[in-house]
Amino acid sequence: MLIWKDQTIEWYMNANKKTQYFSKLSIPILEYIEKSDRICEIACGLGFLSMELAKKAKEVLSIDISPEAIDFMNTYLEKNSIKNINTSCGDWRKLCKEKVFDVVILSYFGAILNDWSLLKSIASKYIIAILPQTYRKDKVSNEDLATYNRETVDNVTEFLTEKKIPFKLMKDEIEFGQPFDKIEDAFNFISHYYNISDRNYAKEYLNKNLIKKEGYYYLPKTRKFGIFIIGPFK
Ligand SMILES: C[S@@+](CC[C@H](N)C(=O)[O-])C[C@H]1O[C@@H](n2cnc3c(N)ncnc32)[C@H](O)[C@@H]1O
Repeated sequence: MLIWKDQTIEWYMNANKKTQYFSKLSIPILEYIEKSDRICEIACGLGFLSMELAKKAKEVLSIDISPEAIDFMNTYLEKNSIKNINTSCGDWRKLCKEKVFDVVILSYFGAILNDWSLLKSIASKYIIAILPQTYRKDKVSNEDLATYNRETVDNVTEFLTEKKIPFKLMKDEIEFGQPFDKIEDAFNFISHYYNISDRNYAKEYLNKNLIKKEGYYYLPKTRKFGIFIIGPFK
């Protein structure tokens, strides 16, 4: 599971700032959002997608099980005077029970295959899911795999087709690489995320992949994903 701590929060925030990943991701999604919509983002992490959608939607409820992620979001919302996002910390399955939203959205979080009935019961118009096309099994920790390896573009396509649930799929890719001020930070990053702790191997990896930019270092990464627009249900 992605554990949110000061360091991982800072990395994610800096990556989004540099690449504008979530702003770019929101462009095709906003086509399906109306001004009157009440949205729920399940497993929102630091809430950057919620913040993009809230620029158009009436109201967003952003849910995550991590207190650190929700604390980060609350501080950010207050600092930036964003009033139409509410946050809630806990398991989405408990927090969403018997609630209904116009649109339910989830990004890089598996809930379709295991919790379809609950998910469907809380969305009146659309469920929008952003899922990876594949996982780089060799480069992520086993813990991550256990949590969200289940759902990819392929197995969700199969699931929805089999159940005859209407959906559209848009495949895309957006740069979501990691900037660093110092080279030591790049070592810490790859040791944390890519299971590369051997210093010599790490050096080799960074020699090959790390780019020196004007005033900072950059480790490129492209996220290849599919956006499922599931519905409309009415
Ligand atoms: C891979 S991250 C994705 C975060 C965010 N959606 C994004 O795209 O950046 C998965 C998130 O799911 C959250 N999570 C895991 N289990 C959850 C649950 N049962 N209810 C709510 N959030 C959960 C984690 O805390 C983490 O923030």
